Amino acid sequence: MKTISDILTLRAQVDEWRHDGDTVAIVPTMGSLHKGHISLMQLASEYAERVVATVFVNPTQFGPNEDFEKYPRAFDADRSRLTRGGVDVMFAPEHEEIFPFGLDHGTFVSVPDLSTILCGEKRPGHFDGVTSVVNRLFNIVGPDFAVFGQKDYQQLVIIRRMVDDLHIPIKILACPTHREESGLAMSSRNRYLSDAEREQAPALYQAICECRDRYLEGERDLKKLEQAGLARLSQAGFEPEYLVIRKSGDLALPEADSRHLSVMGAARLGTTRLIDNVLFEVKT
Ligand code: PAJ
Repeated sequence: MKTISDILTLRAQVDEWRHDGDTVAIVPTMGSLHKGHISLMQLASEYAERVVATVFVNPTQFGPNEDFEKYPRAFDADRSRLTRGGVDVMFAPEHEEIFPFGLDHGTFVSVPDLSTILCGEKRPGHFDGVTSVVNRLFNIVGPDFAVFGQKDYQQLVIIRRMVDDLHIPIKILACPTHREESGLAMSSRNRYLSDAEREQAPALYQAICECRDRYLEGERDLKKLEQAGLARLSQAGFEPEYLVIRKSGDLALPEADSRHLSVMGAARLGTTRLIDNVLFEVKT
């Protein structure tokens, strides 16, 4: 595996692959990689001959009081994991390479509506930071495919919308959420959890699953379902932010005939913010 940090070298490499007729997939990450990330690499290599994993802790998607400074960084471990994961290139640029006009003067890409609900309401500007960096990475690599995790479901929906709306010729692939045995979704931020919090953390997934099951059993009072989920989270020691049932296509409120739904939740455990979701289908 090659490690590349500048755009010119990366583009020369992609040109070489293209010359050989190879297709290319990109997997954007912020590093500190776990098995969930590696499952994205595997999906990427099922679709494309060549895989570029990007490792870039994007400052523009962190709020002023968020964990940018302390976000875990593990360059050498990431490089070994990606090598073992069959990735061709690890692209790990500096800020200046990605934001040549500076972080405060860069061009922003903002997907309206979807970016200001749920996590976007709690983290103003977060998704604008995500779309602005992902759009740049797409322009730098020019891949055929891009892989994202269902774990960050709102992010996935927003990126799909950006690609459709801006006519970006890249196929977005979604990878199922990789979980610990306890059900806890793997996340780079899980390493902030104390031992006691790790015991409590699977309750987020459990509350989400319960909400889904009760909906599938016929309960249609969304307020009631959401309140029950929030209460369950509080009991488990979380400070809940939201737990909602939405249409999985556009995150709008479900209607009586909606079939493809998602339960999405976000909650704090101590100082750590965790998110999770499940997608499900209502059969008639
Ligand atoms: P990061 O949190 O590093 O996640 C990189 C990718 O891995 C995302 O698509 C995320 O959804 C996926 N992922 C994380 N945990 C996962 C799990 N347990 N199972 C499956 N997939 C998982 O998301 C970001 O970085 C950034 O916002 C980024 C898109 C790179 C833009 O900066």
